[in-house]
Amino acid sequence: MSQKKIITVFGATGAQGGGVVRAILADKNSEFTPRAVTRDINSDKAKELAALGAEVVQADLAHPESVKKAMEGAYGAYCVTFFWAHFSPEQEAAEAKAMADAAKAAGVKHVIWSTLEDTRKLVPLHDDRMPTLMEKYKVPHFDAKGESDQVFRDSGVPTTYLLTTFYWDNMIYFGMGPKRGEDGELAITFPMGDAKLSGIGAEDIGKCAYGIFKKGSSMIGKTIGIAGEHISCADMAEELSEVYGEKVKYNMVPPAVFRSFGFPGAEDLGNMFQYYQEFADEFAELRDVEYAKELNPELQNFKEWLKDNVSKIPVG
Ligand SMILES: NC(=O)c1ccc[n+]([C@@H]2O[C@H](COP(=O)([O-])OP(=O)(O)OC[C@H]3O[C@@H](n4cnc5c(N)ncnc54)[C@H](OP(=O)(O)O)[C@@H]3O)[C@@H](O)[C@H]2O)c1
Repeated sequence: MSQKKIITVFGATGAQGGGVVRAILADKNSEFTPRAVTRDINSDKAKELAALGAEVVQADLAHPESVKKAMEGAYGAYCVTFFWAHFSPEQEAAEAKAMADAAKAAGVKHVIWSTLEDTRKLVPLHDDRMPTLMEKYKVPHFDAKGESDQVFRDSGVPTTYLLTTFYWDNMIYFGMGPKRGEDGELAITFPMGDAKLSGIGAEDIGKCAYGIFKKGSSMIGKTIGIAGEHISCADMAEELSEVYGEKVKYNMVPPAVFRSFGFPGAEDLGNMFQYYQEFADEFAELRDVEYAKELNPELQNFKEWLKDNVSKIPVG
């Protein structure tokens, strides 16, 4: 039987958790072995992880007993919540609590909690530069995560708080890639002004998390922010132009216009980009690219990520 320490990975079939599972399995001498959590062990993605060598187990964050079972016997856990599966900050907070409680009950030695800022610390609800959403949030999918940091603290479970950031993969899976306008030209549209956007390739989040697990107990209680590069949207458009061999413009829109786009989550994302834009320095300061590279020597900047991923970006 394997003597390796088990890391329970939530969201294992998704971007962040998948990266954690693959990072552990890619290191043949790892002291760890991943336990991949999914709601459906028969899905293609779950089978892919099993074929790579992961233990695959069924659990649903909506069912705390299943979460407890997934944590049993684990040394570590990668905990991430799934806002876009339900659009509910309250449900996200409940998911975080289910994982913190289960980790505590199982005596897990090292949790990494994938979190983001509670934006209300810098933009209180009475600040009308951006609308309050769902009655008590500015950026619901950030705020519920930031608020849940306290849940992990209160649980007493040894935790590292991992501040993630904007995935460049949103160009592939979230419709944020270049689109051809009525003028026939390609453009990316962001409400970021001239500010730098802290971005990262999603796969690098998992690799950084693995670096944190390897560092072990010295990381407990710390907040670690990561990014692959802080880069303006104009510079991203330049890089895109180069790989496409045709001009890609940066279509700079105000956050209020982005909020009005009407797709599910547009207001949340409009507020998020406004926060990214207006607090770009504070945001970048918390995300040290050099340190992220120390955790994950393969960390990519935007140009490197683009080279590997350009063929996956749908050009609309
Ligand atoms: N996109 C970005 O730029 C960005 C940046 C920073 C943070 N985030 C945050 O990242 C989080 C999502 O992580 P991701 O991008 O890695 O996910 P993802 O790629 O969208 O994959 C979703 C994952 O959620 C799992 N899942 C959904 N509901 C579940 C439940 N009830 N119980 C157990 N597992 C469940 C799915 O697993 P199964 O279907 O296999 O069960 C799947 O692995 C969101 O909260 C988002 O706010 C996103």
